[in-house]
Amino acid sequence: MSKNVLLTSAIDEKISSLENQVHRALLGDKFQIPQMPERDIEIWQKGRHPAKKGLSFVEGQARLLHDMANIELQAMELALRTLCEYPDADTTFREQLAALTLSEGQHLKMCVRGLRDLGFEWGHWPIHMALWNAVSESDSLIDRIFIVHRYLEGSGLDSGKSLIERFSQIPPNKTVEIMKVISDEELDHVQFGSLWYREFCNQQKLDADHKFKNLLTDLLPRLPRRMEPVNVELRRRALFNESEIKNLVDLRESLL
Ligand SMILES: [Fe+2]
Ligand SMILES: [Fe+2]
Repeated sequence: MSKNVLLTSAIDEKISSLENQVHRALLGDKFQIPQMPERDIEIWQKGRHPAKKGLSFVEGQARLLHDMANIELQAMELALRTLCEYPDADTTFREQLAALTLSEGQHLKMCVRGLRDLGFEWGHWPIHMALWNAVSESDSLIDRIFIVHRYLEGSGLDSGKSLIERFSQIPPNKTVEIMKVISDEELDHVQFGSLWYREFCNQQKLDADHKFKNLLTDLLPRLPRRMEPVNVELRRRALFNESEIKNLVDLRESLL
């Protein structure tokens, strides 16, 4: 059993520990998954956070990068968690997931660097743990792929696109460049989720569309509520089919 990297809190140390652990997890290295990974900053419930400044303010851009860093960190930890919790999953799946985990690490580093360039540090604002709270040790691998890559990262595609559109009203800046790179690369992550979700449903002779609808209903209590409209074009590019897109649109309308 190696040192539990999820219990490292300082951000720079945490990123490099997580990167190391990805390689070891691929080789079968195991560590216990804590209820909650360690943080060196305050955790507040989602929805109760301080008001945000607009994106035309440096502070507003820094806050966005801080919020993104929080999401990228949880995305990296969750991908590593999947690698550890499903050691017998398909080898190609695991290799692609390891690459995705490292890509989240790159996104996280870009956000932390961008934040520092604007004169702010990780920890300036509180964070939430909504992504981590959306998964459970009782998840099947299909559940986990659905939650992390199709629901959480899929919702990120919708919100990333509307954020970039909001930036079009202000002069070009480094923050929007970071957001664009992340947004482009996240499309690959969601495609990865769509392909493997269907592959594993096929292998288990499950009706993937039916399962998608059921999972949305069954898992909803622990999923963060989506606010942004479903970006149909991006969802299609991320390999959602029309039935899945309709389910997402219907769900959003039912929550408004
Ligand atoms: Fe990411
Ligand atoms: Fe991602």
